[in-house]
Amino acid sequence: MELQAKGKTSHREALLKAEHSIAKTKDIARKDLSRLKYHFMAPANWLNDPNGFIFYKGEYHLFYQHNPYGPRWGAMHWGHAKSKDLVHWEHLPIALAPSEPYELHDRGGCFSGSAVDNNGVLTLLYTATILKEEQLIQTQCLASSDDGITFEKYEGNPVIPGPPADGSADFRDPKVWRHGELWYMVVGSSKDNRGKALLYKSADLREWDYVGVLAESDGTMGTMWECPDFFLLGGRHVLMFSPMGMGKHITIYLIGDMDYATGKFTWDTMGDIDHGREYYAPQSLLDGKGRRVIIAWLNAWDWMPWFKDFAPTDNNHWCGAMSAPRTVELDQSGRLRFEPVEELKVLRREHYRLENTIVAPGADVLPKYAASDCAEIIAEFQLSGCQAEEIGFALRASGDGRQQTLLVYNLRTNELRLDRSQSDGWSEGIPAVTLERSGEEALKLHIFIDTCVVEVYTDNYGTVMTNNIYPDPGSIEMEVFSIGDQVTMKSIDIWKLRSAW
Ligand code: FRU
Repeated sequence: MELQAKGKTSHREALLKAEHSIAKTKDIARKDLSRLKYHFMAPANWLNDPNGFIFYKGEYHLFYQHNPYGPRWGAMHWGHAKSKDLVHWEHLPIALAPSEPYELHDRGGCFSGSAVDNNGVLTLLYTATILKEEQLIQTQCLASSDDGITFEKYEGNPVIPGPPADGSADFRDPKVWRHGELWYMVVGSSKDNRGKALLYKSADLREWDYVGVLAESDGTMGTMWECPDFFLLGGRHVLMFSPMGMGKHITIYLIGDMDYATGKFTWDTMGDIDHGREYYAPQSLLDGKGRRVIIAWLNAWDWMPWFKDFAPTDNNHWCGAMSAPRTVELDQSGRLRFEPVEELKVLRREHYRLENTIVAPGADVLPKYAASDCAEIIAEFQLSGCQAEEIGFALRASGDGRQQTLLVYNLRTNELRLDRSQSDGWSEGIPAVTLERSGEEALKLHIFIDTCVVEVYTDNYGTVMTNNIYPDPGSIEMEVFSIGDQVTMKSIDIWKLRSAW
C-alpha cells in the first residue's frame, strides 16, 4: 500500500514538472513562423509516434510520444489532446510520465502503446522501459482513467513482464483491440534479425496469455517491427507496422485473413502505407461513423543521418508533428486506399479554379494571388497523346526562384518525385515512387501543403507520399509546369486553407 501511494505521488510530481517545462517554452515555440497550421503538434518540444489514438465517448483522443524537456528524443512521456472533428485539437494535461522507482518499470520512458474503452474506463497499454546494465528492459504496462484526463498506473504493473521465447529484448508498442469476449494485443519484436508481430490475449487487460507469432519477416522485411497495428477491414484483416532496416519501405501493410481459433494470420498482399520519407508509426482507430482512420508521425528514424537533427525547427523549441488523418479502405483490387478525412474541408477558404488550360513549357499559368504556404490543390492532367517529358508543380518557391520544391511526374518512367534539392538548404534527398497508373490515363494529384509538410495523394488514392521541407516563411509562390511539350490541365482547384489552431 505504501509503495502504491508513493508511486501515485511520484507520478503526479513527474507530470507537474513536465507541465512546468512546457509552460516555460510554449510561448517561444508558438511564435515560430514554421509552426504548422492544420497538422497536430505538441505545444512545445519533441513529439514522435501517435499513441492511444481512440474515439472515446464521442471525441477523438490522441496521445503521443513526447519529451517535454527539449526538442530532441528522450524521457518519453505521453502527451494528450482531444478533438471533436480530427482537425481542431485541444491540448490536455500530459497523461503519462516516467516515474516509477521500482525495478522492471518505466523510469527509462513510457514508450508507445494504445488505448481502449474498457466499459467506460479509458485504459492505456504502453511499453515501460528501464535501463539495466546497458540493456533497455521493455515490459508492457497499464494505466487507466475514469475522467479521460488523469491516469493512474496499475499497481500490478507490468502486465507482461518480458518477451516470450519467440521474441527478444526489443519488445514494445502494444496495440490492443476487442474480439468477441476477449482482448487481443499485438506487440512488435524481433529475433535473429527478423521483425515480428507477437499476439497475446486476455479476459481483463491485466492477465495476458501469449498466443504466438502473428506474422514475421522472411528475412527481407526488416529487423524489428515497430508499432504494429491489426484491424478488420472490409471482411479482411490488415497488419500495419514500421519495419527497421527495410530501406525505403518505412511503413508496411499486409492484408490477409485471421483465424482467431488458431491465432494464425495468413497474408497475401503487401504494400507501402506511404512512399515518402517522413511517415512513421501510423496508428488507427475505428470511429463512430465506422471509419478506420490513421495518423502518423511526420518523421522516420531510418532516414535521418545520425549527425543531423530531425528538423531545423528544434532551434525554435519544437520538433515533430502528426500527419493529417486519413481514412483507410480496401479498394476493388484488394489493396489499401487512403483519403484525407472529409472534415479537413472546413479549412477551405478562397477558392481558385481553372479548366482545360494548356500548360506550355516556360509559361506562367497560375496567378500570383494563388500563392500560399497553407493550401490544398486538386489537379487533373490529360495525358493521352501528351508528348511532354515531365509535368508538375513548383511549390513553396521564393520570388527569385532561389528556393523551390518540385513535385514532378515523368511520363516515360511513370515516376513521381519530390525534389527537395532547392527546398531550403537543409532538406536532402529526392523521394520518389513509381505510380501504378497506365500511361494514357489522366493523372490526378491531390496535394496538401502546410508550411513544412507536403502530402500528395494519387493513383486513385492508392499511393500517398509525405515529406517535409523547411523553406523561408516568404517562399510561398506556386506554379504548374511542363517540360518537353505542352500538357492540358483538365482542371485545377486551389483552396487556401485557414489555420486550425
Ligand atoms: C517508434 C519507436 C517505438 C518506441 C518509441 C519510443 O518510433 O521507436 O518503437 O516505442 O518510438 O519513443
